[in-house]
Amino acid sequence: MYLGIDLGTSAVKTVLVDEAQRVIASESRPLTITSPQPGYAEQDPALWIDAAFATLDALKASHAGALAAVKGIGLSGQMHGAILLDASAKPLRPCILWNDGRSAAECRILERRWPALRATTGNKAMPGFTAPKLLWIATHEPDVFAATKLVLLPKAYLRLVLSGEAVEDVSDASGSLWLHAARRDWSDAALAATGLSRQHMPRLVEGCAPAARLRSELAQRWGMTGQPVIAGGAGDNPAGAMGIGAIELGTAFVSLGTSGALLAPTNRIAANPDRVVHTFCHAIPGMWIQAGAILSAASCLTWAARLFGVSEAELLAPLGSRPQAPSPVSFLPYLAGERTPHDDPAVRGMLDGLSHGTDRAAIVQAVLEGVAFALADCRDALAGAGIAIAEADVIGGGSRSEFWLAVLANVLNVPVHRFAGGETGAAFGAARLGRLAVTGEAITAVCTRPQRIATFEPDAGLTSAYAERLPAWRQLYRPRH
Ligand code: XUL
Repeated sequence: MYLGIDLGTSAVKTVLVDEAQRVIASESRPLTITSPQPGYAEQDPALWIDAAFATLDALKASHAGALAAVKGIGLSGQMHGAILLDASAKPLRPCILWNDGRSAAECRILERRWPALRATTGNKAMPGFTAPKLLWIATHEPDVFAATKLVLLPKAYLRLVLSGEAVEDVSDASGSLWLHAARRDWSDAALAATGLSRQHMPRLVEGCAPAARLRSELAQRWGMTGQPVIAGGAGDNPAGAMGIGAIELGTAFVSLGTSGALLAPTNRIAANPDRVVHTFCHAIPGMWIQAGAILSAASCLTWAARLFGVSEAELLAPLGSRPQAPSPVSFLPYLAGERTPHDDPAVRGMLDGLSHGTDRAAIVQAVLEGVAFALADCRDALAGAGIAIAEADVIGGGSRSEFWLAVLANVLNVPVHRFAGGETGAAFGAARLGRLAVTGEAITAVCTRPQRIATFEPDAGLTSAYAERLPAWRQLYRPRH
């Protein structure tokens, strides 16, 4: 039996997976973001721990026997967040999240201070990443910076609480801007550019390698017989890749979660930081993931549902299963700024083309199309790195909407595929990593592809209508920095 714990942005989700890779139980607890100032996004790490423990306590209540048999635990998590710990491993302040835009000036300082940043990390310095946040802290909260003894990403903090050990996996570490992407090791030059050293960093392991063991008192709390192994785990996107078996070249996929991404596993680094392509180590040794990442995807639909005062399902129902033509309205999904391709934390969303005749359905369709157009920008940025997308699997909450998948197939002009339910999330991929860390099985034997339940083919008429719309949609963007 294996556990996968995904420390997401909107929830902590935990799945219990058996030897036949069936999800036999899952629990989730919601999380909220606080925004002390416009453009800021923070979470209190204590709430993550409460939420994660609540999922495990609930599994103990409902599936005590299965939980007792857990041998391996995999962690996945929202990437890039900075948790600063003092000498007694207490968080010094709330975590600054991946979608926090406060450190744009620090990014420019970092790139000036360390010109090899892009070549070494494969990434552009962007506010969502961890290193510029530390420069921001050094300037704006010098006492906190001085007291910082250890810097962890969100799931490494959860692991510290679960095991007492400070360990991070290389996929999540690549979102810090402190990792030498080719060597899969911390870069001393990168750390020095932020006034830090290896002493401030956790030990690194590959995602499928053992990293620690669950503390014995926690194993007892959850009725486990031994002390399960905790794997290195992965950032949420690489963990999602493990869950759907995106482990080889040519297995591109789209994630429609709170944030969105178009991701392509590669067996060499194919960076394009100038076009804001992200370089992450994969959770597989010797592989990387190149990604276009957008800051708001399914969260745009959540926003629209809040605005209209109805559920997301009610918003989507009138649209049917596929578009007849592009909406007359256009939407820029930059509700939290944007990364690929603009790297513009200050830009905001937009609705264009409203008239007296505009109804709710036209706006909702525009919201879904705007996210798809943003993913077309990601596709083009990846093309600039020599990565062509021939088809794509879609994971994340947004993949539940047939209409959205039909839009995506037509905007990206490739077939897109959907899987059945719960096997596709980052938590499931994390559970697979937990298993690999225990059994040492071949990755290809464990990370098989779940069954695709539907394929959405592009339709020639719609594809050309969306291709005609894309340039006008792009022109709506006006840089704010
Ligand atoms: C990836 C990214 C997001 C977060 C939260 O670069 O910022 O996917 O990991 O999901």
